[in-house]
Amino acid sequence: MTQLPGLLDTEAIRKDFPILDRVLHDGKKLVYLDNAATSQTPRQVLDVLNEYYEQHNANVHRGVHVLAEEATELYEGARDKVAAFVNAPSRDEVIFTKNASESLNLVANMLGWADEPYRVDADTEIVITEMEHHSNIVPWQLLAQRTGAKLKWFGLTDDGRLDLSRIDEVITPKTKIVSFVLVSNILGTYNPVEAIVRRAQEVGALVCVDASQAAPHMALDVQALQADFVAFTGHKMCGPTGIGVLWGRQELLEDLPPFLGGGEMIETVSMSSSTYAPAPHKFEAGTPPIAQAVGLGAAVDYLSSIGMDRIAAHEHALTEYAIRRLADVPGVRIIGPTTAEDRGAAISFTLGDIHPHDVGQVLDEQGIAVRVGHHCARPVCLRYGIPATTRASFYLYSTPAEVDALVDGLEHVRNFFG
Ligand code: ALA
Repeated sequence: MTQLPGLLDTEAIRKDFPILDRVLHDGKKLVYLDNAATSQTPRQVLDVLNEYYEQHNANVHRGVHVLAEEATELYEGARDKVAAFVNAPSRDEVIFTKNASESLNLVANMLGWADEPYRVDADTEIVITEMEHHSNIVPWQLLAQRTGAKLKWFGLTDDGRLDLSRIDEVITPKTKIVSFVLVSNILGTYNPVEAIVRRAQEVGALVCVDASQAAPHMALDVQALQADFVAFTGHKMCGPTGIGVLWGRQELLEDLPPFLGGGEMIETVSMSSSTYAPAPHKFEAGTPPIAQAVGLGAAVDYLSSIGMDRIAAHEHALTEYAIRRLADVPGVRIIGPTTAEDRGAAISFTLGDIHPHDVGQVLDEQGIAVRVGHHCARPVCLRYGIPATTRASFYLYSTPAEVDALVDGLEHVRNFFG
């Protein structure tokens, strides 16, 4: 078995993930390399979800009975866990949403309905990048269309990094918000957050970071990032689907208006007007995803028990190995950084002129799960003149043997298509 320095004890870790034992068609063992799309769920999280529904299920914040109090305690306890996980100065800065897309839409709508000094209007500019997931493009396009604001973006270099050479022209005194991805879901690139934040702060612009592909894989410290908002999602970090997080700076959350109205987010309501509860409740209208938040709390406990730095080191070693092995496969072209430095564990590539959907299908026949397509980042494919990519993405339970299986699988694809 290939040994690499920095690897976790995957034999032990994999025992926590029942799904990884699945045997698929023709007795092929599952090789799950689609972790950037969604991660698998450990028994420790499944048990907490079960226990929640078997013992504590109730609505939160509104009941006086025992179950309602327990559910509220568990839900708010999850907020404490998430706050500690990202080193938030206050638990009130953690807003639960249904996914990262909703978190990013929430920021765009807070600003869209805000008064000065936050208001986005026809005299202002919004800055994003060409490597964003659609969830960090479309909300800003919608906001720009509604307000007349100008949408600008950083382009990409040929090696899959942000082109910041004209940073002072892209981020200007008219910029109201700069929203960018910390780790790209398609290219794997880790972006130079300090340089972008420094320039944004110079001109007084707010900064929003999409950390969906970062929070599961590295120690995330919202204070060190110096951003104003950070969005991520639970299902990519061993949690359930249906739960996302928006962290925001407390004074901003106090000043900015809510987006969705309804129960739970109010202080008082009359027929003519309402006043709102303090943050984070102001931004959590209606019954929240209670069990999902509790599950996310359990996921955070699980990841913390292993250690985010150790998980990052494991993925770094595996990414280095995968890049090295893929380089030996004739026809493979990596789309994105071709070294393991400053990148995450999602590797996109093309294989000669074989369409990625065909690559994915033949790999699937061998039990290997990858994602194919534009990965909700179509502008990246347009930039590099390709219709789609095949993407392999690793997590704490991924092994060098699975990288080898991918490489063998690609040989099989090449033979299959002659
Ligand atoms: N954003 C997820 C991905 O990149 C769904 O696959």
